[in-house]
Amino acid sequence: MIKDTDRTYEALKEDIRKHDYNYYVLDEPEISDYEYDQLFNKLFEFEKENPQLITPESPSQRVGIAPLESFKTYIHKKQMLSLANVFSEEDLIDFFTRVDKRLVDIKDYEVFCEPKMDGAAISIIYKNGILETGATRGDGSKGEDVTSNIKTIKSIPQKLLHTTKFKIPSYIEIRGEVYISKDDFINLNKIASEKDQKIFANPRNAAAGSLRQLDPKVTSQRPLSFIAHGIGEMESVKIESLDAFFEMLNEFGLPTNPLNKKVIGIKSCLDYYQDILKKRESISFDIDGVVYKLNNLKHQIKLGEVSRSPRWAIAHKFPAEEATTIIESIDFQVGRTGILTPVARLNPVKVGGVIVSNCTLHNIDEIERLDPRVGDTVIIRRAGDVIPQIIKVVLSKRPNSVIPVEIPTKCPSCNSKVLSENASDWAVINNDGKHVKKYGSEIEAVHYIDGNNEFSLKEIKNKAAFIRCSNELECPEIVRGNIVHFVSRKAFDIEGLGQEIINTFNKAGLLNNVADIYKLKNHKNELMQMEGFGEKSISNLINSIENSRKIDLHKFIYSLGIQEVGEATSYNLAKEFKELETFLKTNFKHLIEIEDIGPKVAANIIKFLESEYSKPLIAQLIKELQIKVFKDVDSSLLTLQGLQIVLTGKLNNFSRDEIKENLISRGAKVLSSVSSKTSFVIAGENAGSKLKKAIELNVKIYDENEYESILKNPSKYT
Ligand code: IVH
Repeated sequence: MIKDTDRTYEALKEDIRKHDYNYYVLDEPEISDYEYDQLFNKLFEFEKENPQLITPESPSQRVGIAPLESFKTYIHKKQMLSLANVFSEEDLIDFFTRVDKRLVDIKDYEVFCEPKMDGAAISIIYKNGILETGATRGDGSKGEDVTSNIKTIKSIPQKLLHTTKFKIPSYIEIRGEVYISKDDFINLNKIASEKDQKIFANPRNAAAGSLRQLDPKVTSQRPLSFIAHGIGEMESVKIESLDAFFEMLNEFGLPTNPLNKKVIGIKSCLDYYQDILKKRESISFDIDGVVYKLNNLKHQIKLGEVSRSPRWAIAHKFPAEEATTIIESIDFQVGRTGILTPVARLNPVKVGGVIVSNCTLHNIDEIERLDPRVGDTVIIRRAGDVIPQIIKVVLSKRPNSVIPVEIPTKCPSCNSKVLSENASDWAVINNDGKHVKKYGSEIEAVHYIDGNNEFSLKEIKNKAAFIRCSNELECPEIVRGNIVHFVSRKAFDIEGLGQEIINTFNKAGLLNNVADIYKLKNHKNELMQMEGFGEKSISNLINSIENSRKIDLHKFIYSLGIQEVGEATSYNLAKEFKELETFLKTNFKHLIEIEDIGPKVAANIIKFLESEYSKPLIAQLIKELQIKVFKDVDSSLLTLQGLQIVLTGKLNNFSRDEIKENLISRGAKVLSSVSSKTSFVIAGENAGSKLKKAIELNVKIYDENEYESILKNPSKYT
């Protein structure tokens, strides 16, 4: 006879299991942490009073086991195979050609695509629905019995959930990956460093190390998670495909990867690869490629395996994101804003799929933090579309003779004095000095107080130190940088005035600022006598300069090269002020009310407009140019009116400018950063932080192909 207390105990355990599943597997808790703790306390209380009733699969028993002396060897009933790798499209085609040959007449077979997780492989065994054993992969035939540690992992149920669709099998072995998410890893190392404990090199090492702790209490402190990816030995299970197997696992309360996808054909596999590569940065755990598996289990059996790898699966690895190389020199480069940026010149090395030979060291703080020296061996990282970074100096390989980087006191370009500045965080405060909003930023220090004193920017914290050339008006690098930007395609688009020609004319004293471009025609004879120039090339150049005199307001604003005022912001400014004169008279308060403009950018604009350098320059340009008044378009054509769109990543079939112009001319706003107000993001290849933010904020993401449909069927998207 079942006693009432037994039933309450069973119900309580079932309840906690369900909440564990909701929290750790579905990530959709139904109760608060407090309510969960209450349930658990109830369980502890009950078990304290009725110790004879405690069952091994009770949620309280996850950490109930005493430390072990050593792990027992576990012999896998079915070998845990490993995967062969391909790194290229050609090798993938070869793989599928081999599959085609063996499948003979079977066409259009299904392929199951999964991210390749960078964790530790395990095998878990349930007997009649109760978790019985957990073992590491070991050499594939023999692993270690780590059951007590596996039991501490909250996303692995101690008992399978009952379901009407699938019968609980008498025996089932599930393979999968134990991992630590990126955020949990950072946290884990933070705690370790606070306690002066060993720092883990990466999430994979941390996960594998945690699984092999003899004391399960230690393992239980580690944020381990689990995702199932394979089938082991099974009894009384009727399953014909991988996707059906995973569906069954989900019903039993086991997590599988939500990014898994069933496809047909190599093209779709490659699309999947690109898609996951694009999402790589924003995925919460480390992955190092994707895995393609034949979905049909009969197809898998037909193909079999060779030397420990299945013929029915292959890993398509991403290019390595880290590489080791040597610093050959460290230079300071002067940018068009005058800031001197330290750059490490490297022995060229392939990383993230491209050859890297230069790597920015950002600023003086970074030099102090890393202490990179010429001759040092360094680890470079290039992830997605993020610029390469030096993440570590390998001190054990440092030669004896190396010396610290000398911070220049003179500009390497013009020998003028170098000024030190600190970038800061900023707060916007109102009249009463009350804090309105805080903005973290790494901009140069600008103490800006608005004319009517309604708002002011207050520097609240010093950040990275910058050094800047003091010769803003004449430093050749600053002057040349500004001219290069001014004539670039998205600005005045002056053909024939490339970087080298600009350098030559500048050295000859004919091009000392952007306004001088329009005086070049007065020096035609001088120009023609310069080496490498003839009558034809000079008259072509003069022609394209003359043709550029008429310009849209937004392009003019963009061409000024104000810090952090890109194309989208320039367009918004033109739309707001319509005429240059009005823009030139603007103030801080007005600027921060404009879409997409925060205090940091507003301060940059005001500083530029008020600078001694810009004022006379703009006056000269106005004399030379015809700057058009901004005109709004016919409202019936504004099919995308009200949409806020962000473009990111590399687009293959359309130029970014083309897309932008088309969207803007239909009334959409093309903004430079993603927020909760963003209508959608159009993401190309290797999109990085913007895509990540869109995913985080649950903003819709479309790919390049969808863009055409947006133009054709705008109502679907507005
Ligand atoms: S399937 C027979 N799927 O990669 C196929 N493995 O090199 C066996 N891995 O030891 C594995 N993500 O630890 C499979 N989605 C995935 C995977 C995956 C990561 C690991 C696994 C295995 C290694 C094989």
